[in-house]
Amino acid sequence: MCGIIGYVGFRNAVPILIGGLKKLEYRGYDSSGVSVLSPENDIIVRKSKGKIANLEELILQKPIVHSTLGISHTRWATHGEPNHINSHPHTDCSQSIVVVHNGIIENYESLKAQLQAKGHKFVSQTDTEVIAHLIEEYYKGDLFAAVKKTILDLKGAFALGIISKNHPDLLIAARVGSPLIIGLGKGENFIASDVPAILDRTKKIIYLQDGEMACISKKEVKVFKFSGEKVIPKAQIVKFSVDAVKKQGFAHFMLKEMHEQPHVISEMGKRYIKNGKVDLGDFGLTPAQIKAITRIDIVACGTAYHAGMVGKYAIEKMAKIPVTIDVSSEFRYRDPIVDKNTMIIAISQSGETADTLAAVKEAKRKGAKIVSICNVLGSSLVRESDAVLYTHAGPEIGVASTKAYTAQLGVLFMLAVKLATVNKTMSPGEIKEFLDAFKKIPTSIQAFLADQKTVARVAKRNSHFGCFLFLGRNINFPSALEGALKLKEISYIPAEGYAAGEMKHGPIALIDEYRAVVCIAPASDVYEKIISNMQEIRARKGKIIAIATEGDQDIKNHADDVLYIAATHDLLTPLLAALPLQLIAYHIAVQLGCDVDQPRNLAKSVTVE
Ligand code: AGP
Repeated sequence: MCGIIGYVGFRNAVPILIGGLKKLEYRGYDSSGVSVLSPENDIIVRKSKGKIANLEELILQKPIVHSTLGISHTRWATHGEPNHINSHPHTDCSQSIVVVHNGIIENYESLKAQLQAKGHKFVSQTDTEVIAHLIEEYYKGDLFAAVKKTILDLKGAFALGIISKNHPDLLIAARVGSPLIIGLGKGENFIASDVPAILDRTKKIIYLQDGEMACISKKEVKVFKFSGEKVIPKAQIVKFSVDAVKKQGFAHFMLKEMHEQPHVISEMGKRYIKNGKVDLGDFGLTPAQIKAITRIDIVACGTAYHAGMVGKYAIEKMAKIPVTIDVSSEFRYRDPIVDKNTMIIAISQSGETADTLAAVKEAKRKGAKIVSICNVLGSSLVRESDAVLYTHAGPEIGVASTKAYTAQLGVLFMLAVKLATVNKTMSPGEIKEFLDAFKKIPTSIQAFLADQKTVARVAKRNSHFGCFLFLGRNINFPSALEGALKLKEISYIPAEGYAAGEMKHGPIALIDEYRAVVCIAPASDVYEKIISNMQEIRARKGKIIAIATEGDQDIKNHADDVLYIAATHDLLTPLLAALPLQLIAYHIAVQLGCDVDQPRNLAKSVTVE
């Protein structure tokens, strides 16, 4: 999704605006641009298709004077192809007003037609350019008032940064549906789409809320609702360090974040397991409210959806509460049957996924209780929820979700135990067995990570295959889906995850010596079943990479490669299977020279439908 940076202060704006964009690259983009106000009050714009390095090269060729006010943008194209003209910032007819935007203006075509009828000249195919011309139309000397009137005409989602040649110390911000934060400095202030972009400048942040706009000068920040009502914003101090958003010697953020998983799960155990019991603290639901829950709907997208699928197996098995699960984009449009005794579990790393936010709003409208599992404090999803269980995985920069996924699994397991405890559906001995196994997970993950050579060798040996099938059964069926998603999103190799029992209902037609099949086959009560699937695959010359429990020698007779994970509780195997699946995808993508942290066409947080 697009990235926005804004600056007003006493320093030279351009390095801050470009440096901030670089820290937002993980969000995914296809062009970038910057605009500043010169000391002579001229608007200067530089923009370029492709990577930020292209924009830097352009600025080297056409230097920008020292300026203390500016905005910059990385664009993930929604309307209009990725090219110079369509990249942001966009200006009005007289190049007096400049806008950067993240989101979608759903009624831009009608607004554009009205403005063209009044003589406005458009140069791009974007929805964003409409905003600049609308502000121009309403501008009578008061920029804030013109922006406020403009916003009332806009339908859709937007985070905006706006400057004008007539207001040399004023940066205006506004948001509805797309994230935007204000960074508070000394004699300078910032706006950004996400915290990492300005963390090296300030840790004092205001999370602009939906329906709010801000008037920002170097000395003052004033926040208002779109209605004009003044808001007293609550500044927060960001807890994680600048280091947390750096690679710290790893080749990729994705690799660094995979290596953070032992720590994340270990900290989760310390946080949520007290005296042999799960203590979720005051997360927002009382035991009485938990007891009143008769069913659970899980809504999520992508990797978070796969985590939710594992959660379904775990909650039903442990807490005996019926669970349904939907991808958010389906839930919101299927007129779901939801009532006050339904718990919605919304899972989202970013807390800004448009479809998950819309699904939650639909469920709230129908009276459901919302529990969100989220990784970003202060995100939109958190504000929509009755209860929040944070994953505390730290910032996840790699577009392919790794530590957030295993952290989501961890929180879902903790929630399942909590529900089972309140409903008395697990004995104390069963709870102790599960929690003792959970506490060993970090060491088991660490052990797997310590032997990168094996998984790198297996991945490289199979990187020539043009198509992969991932098979899993029971609680590892979601693992198969997640393994397929990891591979396809960073290596661009077609990959499909399937319930192994479904293979004979179609996918077996794919099997020949040109396909690789990853079979997730840990010790479990369905182990023999998946061995049969492997025999059927080998009979058709399919190549097999098996993920098995250490000590299992027999599986070598049924697979071309075997990656071993530690023995653990049946229900916890997805937590361990995640590592070989992540690393197979990672090493294949590296072998193929793919952009592991910023895969093509993808964004870290999909803040538009
Ligand atoms: C996973 O690797 C992808 N980046 C993507 O599927 C992601 O999980 C999905 O977009 C949901 O994002 P969220 O957790 O921030 O809502």
